[in-house]
This record gives sequence, C-alpha cells and structure tokens, in this order.
Amino acid sequence: TRPLKVALLGCGVVGSEVARIMTTHAGDLAARIGAPVELAGVAVRRPAKVREGIPQELITTDAKGLVSRDDIDVVVEVIGGIEPARTLITTAFEHGASVVSANKALLAEDGATLYAAAEKHGRDLYFEAAVAGAIPLIRPLRESLAGDKVNRVLGIVNGTTNFILDKMDTSGAGYSEALDEATALGYAEADPTADVEAFDAAAKAAILAGIAFHTRVRLDDVYREGMTEVTAADFASAKQMGCTIKLLAICERAADGRSVTARVHPAMIPLSHPLASVREAYNAVFVEAEAAGRLMFYGPGAGGAPTASAVLGDLVAVCRNKLAEATGPGESVYTQLPVSSMGEV
Ligand code: NDP
Ligand code: HSE
Repeated sequence: TRPLKVALLGCGVVGSEVARIMTTHAGDLAARIGAPVELAGVAVRRPAKVREGIPQELITTDAKGLVSRDDIDVVVEVIGGIEPARTLITTAFEHGASVVSANKALLAEDGATLYAAAEKHGRDLYFEAAVAGAIPLIRPLRESLAGDKVNRVLGIVNGTTNFILDKMDTSGAGYSEALDEATALGYAEADPTADVEAFDAAAKAAILAGIAFHTRVRLDDVYREGMTEVTAADFASAKQMGCTIKLLAICERAADGRSVTARVHPAMIPLSHPLASVREAYNAVFVEAEAAGRLMFYGPGAGGAPTASAVLGDLVAVCRNKLAEATGPGESVYTQLPVSSMGEV
C-alpha cells in the first residue's frame, strides 16, 4: 500500500510531539491504519531553528504551497490563531486532504466555514485535541452519545488556569509566578491572555455546546469572565467555607429545549466535589445525558505529549477513513437555538 502523506503545519509545543510520535511509533501506526504514514513537509515560521528528529529538507515556510500539493492526504494544523490557519485548512480541503486541527480559537470563531469546506470536498475535519488535551471528549459527544440527548456539559477545560489556581490555593504561589511556570511547561497559549481572560475556555465551551446541543455556538455567544482578579484573600474566604475556586465552563440546554446557555467564569466549589480535586493542568468535564446519566471525563488537559496523543488518534481515524473511501461525522446542526449567556439569564 502506498504511504499516506501528512503535512504538518506548526512544529511548536504540540507539533514537535506529533512529529516525534509519528516517527517513533511509525510501525505501530502503519499496522493500525493499514498503510504507512509519511511526514511529507513541516511548515514553520523560523526555518533555521533546530528541530530534533525532523529532516531539514522537510522544513518549509511556504505553508500555502505545502497544503496546495495534490499528493498530501492529511494536513495536521497546529499553528493556532485565525489566519493563516483558516485559509490553509480550506485550501487543504480544496486539494483533497482531510484535516486534523487542535485550533479551538478558529473552530469557535468560524467552525461553520471549516465544516462547509470539508463537506463540499468530501473530506474529514477532526479536532479532538481542541478541547481538554488528551481527554477523549469530542468523539464521545459526536459519536458515542449521538443517539442520546445531552442536557448539560460542565467542567474545567483550561489547564493553564487550573494550574495557576491550584498553585495559588495549595502552595500560596503568586499569580505571575504560577503563570510563568505554566508557560514554561507548554500549557499556555502563545498569548496567555487567551487562557487567563478565559477566551480559550470560552472557545472550548462554544465547541462543546455546539456539538452537544446540535446548534451553532460561537465564541461571542459565551459569557466570559477570566481569573486575573482571583486573589489569595478569595482563596482564604473560600477555604473558610469549605470550598476552593475553579474556572468552570457550563453549557446547558434550557428545560423547555428552546435555547441554550454557555458561560465561563471562576466559581466556588465545595471541597467534597470531584472538581475540587482536579490538580495542576488536568481537566475534568461532566456530561449529563438523558439516557446515559452523568459521565465524567478526566485527564491531562494541556501540554505537548497529551495533546499530541489526541492529534494522533485523529490522524489514525482520518487515515482509516481515507483508505475506506469514507468520511467520519460532519457538522450535526438541526436548528439554530438562541444562545444566551449567564449575564442575560
Ligand atoms: P506553539 O506556539 O508552540 O507552536 C506554533 C507553531 O506554529 C510553531 O512551530 C510556529 O513556527 C508555527 N507557526 C506559527 N505561525 C505560522 C505561520 N504563519 N506559518 C507557519 N508556521 C507557523 O503553539 P502550540 O504548539 O502550543 O499550539 C498549537 C495549537 O494547538 C494552537 O491552536 C493551540 O491552541 C493548540 N493546543 C495547544 C495545546 C497546548 O497544550 N500547548 C493544547 C491543545 C491545543 P516556529 O516554530 O517557527 O515559531
Ligand atoms: N492553553 C490551553 C490550556 C491548552 O491551558 O488548556 C490546551 O487546550
């Protein structure tokens, strides 16, 4: 069988781990997919930077040229941001590739354009890594729970802020010191304002609500309050009440089914609640569905290797689909329900 060719867009915290695992697990991946996968090109901004394990001839600054190649089977987008990522992804679809992306900012801003381009060209758009790092959450919502009715998705979906809040709570660390540590560990976004002002968590809430409730939810629909104003004094007060403070994302279907709400904000959590014991950059998400009941998803929510695990899972899935000349689930939107934020409830 001919090798499936993969173009990697971005080789930073996540991309470098994707490339490493593709190389070190090449035999296993080939066996699981049914064909070898070959790294055909790696697009970056700084070509001179030394990138361990990646042959220099694969490095390019011409991302547009790479995704325009007709021999590329799968494009893995781990650049981040809106542009050029959006244009690169739609160009990839036009040239016959399927796409795996970790880009929650883009999916929450303009997922509709990406889904439409994937559908138009009969390709896959997979993005397990966009929400909650290594934790399988998108696929369970899109596939395993596709026959159920999800009413609520609630939890901790940002590793950086959980890391900071955890350090402030348990070791009395200062906000800036904890943020620096989270950045050094590869948890924070390129601009950590996205984490601490909860744009990242709000983007994830938009993605989860859209999939869970089969309606379109965008970043701007989500009520958003960051955690920069949480102080040591707030933790002391919370402790006196037997609580801690976590940044929560809460997406709910209204009881009458006619609207949904999506919000992200710091909240007091009783110490006895399972979310109170989510430490460091871990995430935890409860999904409540009519028939299934209450499910909890828990695990590493950020960082190079955990995120690469989710990307590689998607890579295997889209490669299998490609060989079977099939596609996985597309956008599942039946109706545009009004989305209100907590501020308007
Ligand atoms: P990094 O900043 O570490 O890496 C970004 C990479 O993209 C770099 O290799 C950079 O090149 C390259 N790049 C940036 N702009 C361009 C461009 N215009 N053309 C070509 N290459 C470009 O980011 P991360 O790896 O942390 O994140 C990547 C994506 O994954 C983002 O969407 C992020 O939100 C998402 N994500 C990240 C997680 C994490 O824990 N870090 C977890 C889940 C999702 P160069 O190396 O030359 O600078
Ligand atoms: N910056 C993000 C976080 C990366 O800390 O959760 C994972 O999506």
